[in-house]
Formats: sequence, C-alpha cells, structure tokens
Amino acid sequence: MSEQNFPRLQNDSILRAARGEPVDTVPVWIMRQAGRYLPEFRELRAKHDFFSICQTPTLACEVTLQPIKRFPLDASIIFSDILVIPQAMGLVVEMKPGIGPVLPEPLIDPSHLSKLRIPDVEKDLGYVGAAITLTRHSLQGKVPLIGFTGAPWTLMGYMIQGGGSSTMAQARIWLYKYPEESHKLLQMITDVIVDYLVMQVKAGAQLLQVFESHGDFLNTELFKEYSLKYFKQIRDKVKEKLEILNVPAVPMIAFPKGANLDSIEIFAKEAGYEVIGLDWTIDPIEARKRVGPNITLQGNMDPTALYATTEKVRQRAENMVREFGKGRYIANLGHGVLPDAPIPSVEAFIEGIHSV
Ligand code: CP3
Repeated sequence: MSEQNFPRLQNDSILRAARGEPVDTVPVWIMRQAGRYLPEFRELRAKHDFFSICQTPTLACEVTLQPIKRFPLDASIIFSDILVIPQAMGLVVEMKPGIGPVLPEPLIDPSHLSKLRIPDVEKDLGYVGAAITLTRHSLQGKVPLIGFTGAPWTLMGYMIQGGGSSTMAQARIWLYKYPEESHKLLQMITDVIVDYLVMQVKAGAQLLQVFESHGDFLNTELFKEYSLKYFKQIRDKVKEKLEILNVPAVPMIAFPKGANLDSIEIFAKEAGYEVIGLDWTIDPIEARKRVGPNITLQGNMDPTALYATTEKVRQRAENMVREFGKGRYIANLGHGVLPDAPIPSVEAFIEGIHSV
C-alpha cells in the first residue's frame, strides 16, 4: 500500500516511546483533547450536529487540529466517536447535549440481534478514513495521528443499555443469562472493529487506541472471558490483515479503564499490545512491577486534578513522570479531560511533563 505521500514526521517521540526506544522528553497527549473545554470547539459545535462533524472530513480535520494549534502536544487523535460502530451496525445513536449518547432502540434480548447488520466498513465508515487521510496531510508531519475504536464489551454496553449507565446491569445480566448470545454479539462487533482499524491504518493512522471504557464493571473472571479474549483477537487479526495487505503494522494502545491490577497483569502477559493505558486509580510504581519492563505505560493523572492551582498541576505532572520514569512511558490523563477543564491547567500539565 502506498504511503500516500504524507509529509515527513518531525516529532516521533510517542512512536519511540511505544516501541520502547529512548526519548528526550516524555510524549504527552490528552484523551478528549479535541472537545468542549476549547472555546473554538464550542463555537463550531454550535453550528453543527455532533455526528455531522464526525461525518464531514473537513470539519473532523479542523476539530482534530484545534488542540494541536494551541498546545505543544506530541500526538493528535482523530475526531470521531466510539459509537459510530453501533450506528454502522444499524442502531440509531443520538448525541443529546447535557445527556450524552442515546440509543432509542437498544437490544433488549437476544432476539434483537437480528436487528443488526454487518456493515461494509470501507463504505459505511469510509468517512472516518477520509478524515484521517485529510488530517495526516493537514498536520504537515507535526505529530503522529492516532486512530481509535471502542472495545467490544464497551460497545455492547451502549447497545444494550441504550446509553450511559452507572451500573451496566442490563449488559452484565446478558453475560450471565445469555452467555452464548453475548459471545455472538461480541464476535460480531469484533469483526467490524478489525476491519475498521485496518481501514484506519490504510488511511494513515500511525497508532491505534482501543477504549474499554466499561472495564470498571468486569471482575477478573468476566474481564478474561468478555474483554481480554476480544482484545487479543483484535490485535492478532489487525496485524495479520495488515501483513497480508503489505501495510506496515502500527503500535496498539489498550485502555482497559477500571481494570484492577490483577487484570492489568494478565492483560500485559497475554494481550500483545505495545502500550497499556491506566486510569487514575492505578499506582504507577505498582503497575510497572506487575507488567514488567517490556510494555509502555500510558496515563494517568486524575482529570479532576486539573482543577488544582496551575502550580500544583505542574508539580503533579512532574512527579508523575518521576514515578513512571522516562522510559517506556506516554503521559496522559487517567480518563478524558472534563468539558469545563481550565485551559491554563492543561498548559501547566503539558509544561510539567516536558520539563522533566
Ligand atoms: O479528542 C478526542 O479524544 C477525539 C474524540 C473522541 C470523542 N469521543 C469525541 C466526543 C473520542 C476519542 C471519543 C471516545 C469515546 N466516546 C469514548 C471512550 C473514551 C471515554 O471517555 O471513555 C466513549 C465512552 C464515548 C462515548 C461518548 N461520546 C460519551 C459517553 C459522550 C457523552 C459524554 C461527553 O463527554 O459528552 C460522547 C460525546 C462526545 N464524544 C463529545 C465529544 C467531543 C461531546 C459531545 C458534544 O459535543 O455534544
């Protein structure tokens, strides 16, 4: 596959960190870095529906670049959402301001699996590929571009609950009441994810992150059976398909949010991801002990710590780098930046990371 004549990359520190190579300064990016805490995002968002921005490559590209123009970040992440997959599988997804995603016709029981369609990823999600290719060019090689997806269990949660949930009880009930059909659903989603990620790499994504935002709800036993299993498949099949297409593989980041240290240890041994993202509840030193020296860790300052004074934010960022160490480390928050996070704190966070 051709490299589509993308501009030469000038800052490869995140790729180096992902591969375990030394860096001068620790690379940093922020989950949800393109979003509502930026006035320029709110201004554009006032004029366009959320999914229209995702589906219009020029708009998705513009929003992706907003945080890159403002801050010395070391990576960009394509503007989109994890829920474009359930949408492509035939479910209606609305983004309601102040509420979040709503799926008005969720999967109530396994008979509803017949409502799902197998999408043609190149056609139905081709707009994400187009946004990635345009953004790769528009970045002019400044920093690498990350592509992403939700993990199967996280997407299954939205498809069954019909939106966010503080318990995911209906989705968890499926795991116990309908184990076979749960695996059937997770496998359908996994197959779409694999083709979707391959398409993103072909379009120009230089790293891939898989968000398991609903990892919180799985104990170690459920985590192994319903999360880890599919993470492994995604990694193996993406690498296999890229090899067949003669497209170079890219580093893969797994973010099993809410996974406990036991789950993280098993994940590090078995999943085969170059990078594991940690949420803010995980102690950096303990995590490093559990995963060993050959995996890059990403994270994990509490997003609410950005509401301390900028001086404290800077100190905390510096301390975080000292705890994780400068090798095999990518700095980030432990979850997405909140919609009203103070911009001077975001600046102090990045400065603190780069100053060590
Ligand atoms: O800058 C970036 O990180 C890229 C864009 C991005 C968005 N969503 C844009 C967005 C990414 C990577 C996501 C991932 C995503 N989406 C996740 C995984 C990360 C996580 O937070 O755990 C999840 C669970 C979703 C689903 C989702 N989308 C929710 C729960 C919400 C509502 C909550 C919220 O933050 O508003 C969204 C909406 C959403 N996705 C917004 C943005 C900028 C705000 C919507 C708006 O503008 O109305």
